Amino acid sequence: MKSVLVLNGPNLQRLGSREPEIYGTVSYPELVAQLAALGKSMSLAVEVRQSDSESELISWIHEATDNNIDVVINPAAFTHYSYALADACKIHTSSGNTLIEVHISNPHAREGFRSVSVISACSSGVIAGFGLRSYEHALRQLAG
Ligand code: DQA
Repeated sequence: MKSVLVLNGPNLQRLGSREPEIYGTVSYPELVAQLAALGKSMSLAVEVRQSDSESELISWIHEATDNNIDVVINPAAFTHYSYALADACKIHTSSGNTLIEVHISNPHAREGFRSVSVISACSSGVIAGFGLRSYEHALRQLAG
């Protein structure tokens, strides 16, 4: 079974209660369970992690790079300014691995600062604006 690492950045553990009009009412534990089940149905071993720490997210991307594991990442607010995370994503993709940037909302339809992603240029592709289905689309892409 192919492994996929799904990473989530700051504040995404608050899904379900955080701005439900934007992010929906499904909780983070429910998202984790949904993605694991979905992955299984696509013959993917999906591991889902969340951190508020830039350092921890970077070390998880390095771990995926070292093990040639494809990554789906919702970098959350780090999307807009973390060059360190972008560099880790670049190392991952330039090593021949796939990394898909996902967003639940469409950042381009929101506040101006969200229109900038420093991650996109270091990603294999970007999926945004489809609610939690953004993750599903990314997994389908990786399942091939
Ligand atoms: C987000 C969009 C970001 O702008 C925001 O900071 C998030 C979530 C999304 O999934 O829509 O935390 O990445």
